[in-house]
Amino acid sequence: MINIKNLDKYYSDTKVLNNISIDIKKGEIFAIVGHSGAGKSTLLRCINGLEDYSDGSLIVNNKEIKALGKDQLREFRKNIGMIFQHFSLIQRKTVFENVALPMQLWGFKKEVILKKVKDLLELVGLDKKIDAYPNQLSGGQKQRVAIARALTLDPDILLSDEATSALDPNTTTSILNLLKEINEKLNITIILVTHEMEVVKQIAQKALLLEHGNIIGFDDTEELFLKPDLKMKEFLGETEVVPNEGVNIKIYFPKDNAFQSFITKMARELDMDFNIVWGKLEEINTHIVGNMVINIEEKDKEKVTNYIKEHKIIWEVL
Ligand SMILES: Nc1ncnc2c1ncn2[C@@H]1O[C@H](COP(=O)(O)OP(=O)(O)OP(=O)(O)O)[C@@H](O)[C@H]1O
Ligand SMILES: [Mg+2]
Repeated sequence: MINIKNLDKYYSDTKVLNNISIDIKKGEIFAIVGHSGAGKSTLLRCINGLEDYSDGSLIVNNKEIKALGKDQLREFRKNIGMIFQHFSLIQRKTVFENVALPMQLWGFKKEVILKKVKDLLELVGLDKKIDAYPNQLSGGQKQRVAIARALTLDPDILLSDEATSALDPNTTTSILNLLKEINEKLNITIILVTHEMEVVKQIAQKALLLEHGNIIGFDDTEELFLKPDLKMKEFLGETEVVPNEGVNIKIYFPKDNAFQSFITKMARELDMDFNIVWGKLEEINTHIVGNMVINIEEKDKEKVTNYIKEHKIIWEVL
């Protein structure tokens, strides 16, 4: 659905996106992650045609964005909804008026607008607030209004630029659940920009890591967290402190694999003791994944690694 190839973007002499190549599939929830200034918002703005790009290709629904004329671009952008960190609601307009705005601009009939706005407010759980003003709503409720507004023109792509960054963790989770529901019910592709790894873990199927305009990671979310490479570890700020003595083995547990039982079974079957240096379980996309470092004596290394291999567990010696 979205095919980006060797994309470069400059702001005057400064290159802010360097050789970006990614594909985003229809119906996917895709995260763009990176520290401040990495180029996340710029990439998002290139995708919805708000920003020009210097070199390379950016194709959305089989159309090269650069090649679109003014009217075609307007039509194209109808197909893309967008939500932001600070909601961008109009304070002096009611919830109804805010959500209705894009349809009014496109000249839809009153009855059509009324029905659509009511349906969408129901979808986001705010039908009771239809006559409220933004300053009478909580942050989470404001974002729900913004989500409803972004869906009025039946887009098939929803872009989210830090939509949960101004919200507390519980509200963040409820908004992410709503986005997931929208993704499933309406089959909308969602691309979300965030600097929060928790957001990525909770919702994204795929993630792109950007650093100074360069791709430093691009994979299924589970893979990225389950077996992070050096760059990803740096990004996550993880440093592994392990004992100098003996052999340290890191074991990765893929989704739905019983972590605890493998360890106890191995100890029992090999009739040996080992130290657990550290371990970590995480929920990614509703799957439990994790990794663990064990420390064993040099003499047991072959026995243990053979056992791990037989069980087809991913592992490495640190
Ligand atoms: N309109 C602009 N003119 C010139 N430089 C810009 C412009 N917009 C962004 N930049 C620069 O491009 C780089 C990427 O900016 P961008 O806003 O995409 O980063 P970001 O990853 O979204 O950061 P944040 O997490 O802070 O929102 C930065 O160095 C920024 O200063
Ligand atoms: Mg940004």
